[in-house]
Amino acid sequence: MSAAPTTTPSTGTGVFSKTRARIAARTLRTDRWWLPPLLTALGLGAFVAYATVRSFVRTAYWVPQYHYLTPFYSPCLSDSCVPGSSHFGTPFGELPMWIPLGFVVLPFLLGFRLTCYYYRKAYYRSVWFSPPACAVAEPHARYTGESRLPLIIQNSHRYFFYVAVVVSLINTWDAITAFHGESGGFGFGLGNIVLLVNVILLWAYTLSCHSCRHIAGGRLKHFSAHPVRYWFWTQVSKLNTRHMALAWTTLGTLVLTDFYVMLVASQTISDLRFID
Ligand code: FES
Repeated sequence: MSAAPTTTPSTGTGVFSKTRARIAARTLRTDRWWLPPLLTALGLGAFVAYATVRSFVRTAYWVPQYHYLTPFYSPCLSDSCVPGSSHFGTPFGELPMWIPLGFVVLPFLLGFRLTCYYYRKAYYRSVWFSPPACAVAEPHARYTGESRLPLIIQNSHRYFFYVAVVVSLINTWDAITAFHGESGGFGFGLGNIVLLVNVILLWAYTLSCHSCRHIAGGRLKHFSAHPVRYWFWTQVSKLNTRHMALAWTTLGTLVLTDFYVMLVASQTISDLRFID
């Protein structure tokens, strides 16, 4: 992380270059412009810390009597998974403790959010100070944007989007199979609502993606020749206006869902049951 942009740089670049009006301050803004990037960094840091710990601990991720599976362990594809939690078989044998049980999709989900257009804005500002806020001079003397390695890789976002659609389908299946009663057959408890709300919001976030908007119809020239794609593009565009809110909401629902499953699986609380 670069130094906090509070002092005047000595580089003579940007607003301090020779041809610009001579103002010594980095910014003349008097509001708390540093607050949003600070909150962003704290929020992202908290999620990364929680998700990392939970992905590695291998405890309390499956509730056998109700078939609740936390999204951080889905799909669970190895022999190390507790019995019943592998909805798609166990093609992988035992895994050493340093490999998370959700290793097949976790890197792709990380890549999906890292290359997301909204998150790029968020961490370019809050972590790299590029810029820290509008009309606040950067601490960097050089800027190449996303034209070089490694940042040129951000252009692969659509491929992470395709994988995220598949993972959303898997999470949907998990939410459906979780309608399981203690005595077998159909069951319905508070955990089902938690899992269902999470998966619906995950779909909303995934479908509100900027790449999805482009793929659905954004790259077309003549909407009149493609009425169906025009309709899809219109719906995705409406969702897309909420993309930032959905990015944060789904971080929250992922943590809450995992936390709820953890509490029930560890028998810290019991699930509120409506049916069986
Ligand atoms: S732009 Fe955010 S998920 Fe695609």
